[in-house]
Amino acid sequence: MGPPGAGKGTQARVVADHFGIPAISTGDIFRANVSQGTPLGQKAQEFMDAGEYVPDEVTNLMVRNRIDEPDASPGFLLDGYPRTLAQVEELDGMVAFTGHRLDAVVVLIVDQNELVARLLQRAQSEGRADDTEEVIRRRQEVYGEQTEPLIGVYRQRGIVQEIDGMGEVDDVTKRIFDALDVVPQS
Ligand code: AP5
Repeated sequence: MGPPGAGKGTQARVVADHFGIPAISTGDIFRANVSQGTPLGQKAQEFMDAGEYVPDEVTNLMVRNRIDEPDASPGFLLDGYPRTLAQVEELDGMVAFTGHRLDAVVVLIVDQNELVARLLQRAQSEGRADDTEEVIRRRQEVYGEQTEPLIGVYRQRGIVQEIDGMGEVDDVTKRIFDALDVVPQS
């Protein structure tokens, strides 16, 4: 977890590779569907372009289907899910059904100015549709309103690992591995 630009996607790929499990990024799956013009992509696009969350029922079904795929049976790392309380509840049901357990929730902490700088830089290099200044601001608001409070839900379960997400990518990765080293794996 972490606000837009915190490094969730960047770190998720490395951590998942290390554990030999898939990194399941809801944002990446939505973007792939948008670029392929699928019905899912058509449903998601207007929400993404505005910096709003795609409705829970659409997102939940997509994650459920992805987790059902064989490569996720040993375990999986979720990047950008859950982001709402309804998604937390849905995920609880999914992991109970598949016999998994949530081992850890990694939260990346990054200064506000650095977040904006990273996303504006990406806007220049990649041109992602939701990396305009106005939509970045909206994504940050939505994160603060709907997702940040969920950290408290997981903190009460004792599975939150808060990581300093500032500095070089490799240094952040090392901090994540150090934190996960002490987490018992299911
Ligand atoms: P998503 O793609 O997940 O966007 P986001 O949450 O806004 O996050 P970002 O991808 O912008 O940032 P990140 O934290 O992953 O950082 P990254 O590694 O990319 O979701 C997009 C949209 O899809 C949502 O707005 C919503 O509409 C929809 N959606 C997705 N999930 C949903 C859900 N569960 N429910 C409903 N709707 C959902 O890094 C950012 C940049 O910084 C990159 O250029 C990277 O190279 C750079 N960077 C990373 N680490 C560092 C570092 N240490 N130093 C310098 N630069 C760095």
